[in-house]
Amino acid sequence: MTSFDHHRRPLVVGIGGTTRAASSTERALGFALRGAEAAGANTRLFGGTFLHCLPHYAPEHSERTDEQLELIEAVRHADALIIATPGYHGGVSGLVKNALDTLEELRADERPYLDGRAVGCIVTAYGWQAAGSVLTSLRSIVHALRGWPTPFGAGINTLETRFDSVDTCSDAKVVDQLAIVGQQAAQFALAFNAHRATSPNASGNSIQHAQPARLLHAV
Ligand SMILES: Cc1cc2nc3c(=O)[nH]c(=O)nc-3n(C[C@H](O)[C@H](O)[C@H](O)COP(=O)(O)O)c2cc1C
Repeated sequence: MTSFDHHRRPLVVGIGGTTRAASSTERALGFALRGAEAAGANTRLFGGTFLHCLPHYAPEHSERTDEQLELIEAVRHADALIIATPGYHGGVSGLVKNALDTLEELRADERPYLDGRAVGCIVTAYGWQAAGSVLTSLRSIVHALRGWPTPFGAGINTLETRFDSVDTCSDAKVVDQLAIVGQQAAQFALAFNAHRATSPNASGNSIQHAQPARLLHAV
C-alpha cells in the first residue's frame, strides 16, 4: 500500500521544446506550467537543451545515463504532465518522442507509464493542419502510455503567434489557452490525489492490478 500525502502540492512535470534557444514550443510550455502553478502545483521543466542530452532510447541496454534517470525519476513522482512538441513533418518531433520512449522504463511500476496522471498536450506548427493532426497524434501516444489527456489541448500556429521572450506572447488568447492546459493538468492531479488519499488502493486504472502483464502495450 502506498502512503500518500494529499495535502502536498501536486508536481506537474513539463517535457518539451526544441533545440532552438528561442523555442516557441518551450516558451508555450512555460506559459502552461505557470498556469499549473497558479492552480496550486509545483512544476519542473525538461526543456529542449535537456532533451537533447538524452541518448536514443535503446531497450536492449540496461545502463541508463544520469539524464535518463533524472527524467524517469521525475515522471515517476509526477502527479501530472504537460508535453509540448513542434509538428515536424506531420508528427511529434524525434526529440520529444525519444523522451517519451525513455518512459518505457516505467513499465513495471506500481503506476505503469503515465497511469493515473493527467497530461496536458501542446503542439506548435507552421499552420493549422499540423497543429491539429499532431495534437491528435500526441494524445494517442499519451493514451498508449495510459495517461489521461486533459480535455483542453493547445494547438498553436507559430506563423501567426510569436513568443518573443520566455514570458511574452503576441496573442492573449493563446496565453489563456495555455493557462487552461496547465490549470486542467493541476486540477486533475489534485482530484486524482484526493481520490487516492481516500482509496489507498486506487490508481487511475484499477484494472491494472488484476492482470498487469497482459495490459502492457494495450494501445
Ligand atoms: C524539421 C522540421 C519539420 C517541420 N515540419 C512541419 C510540418 O510538417 N508542418 C508544420 O506546420 N510545420 C512544420 N515545421 C515547423 C515547426 O513545427 C514550427 O516552426 C514550430 O513552431 C517550431 O517550434 P520551435 O519554435 O519550438 O522550434 C517543421 C520544422 C522543422 C524544423
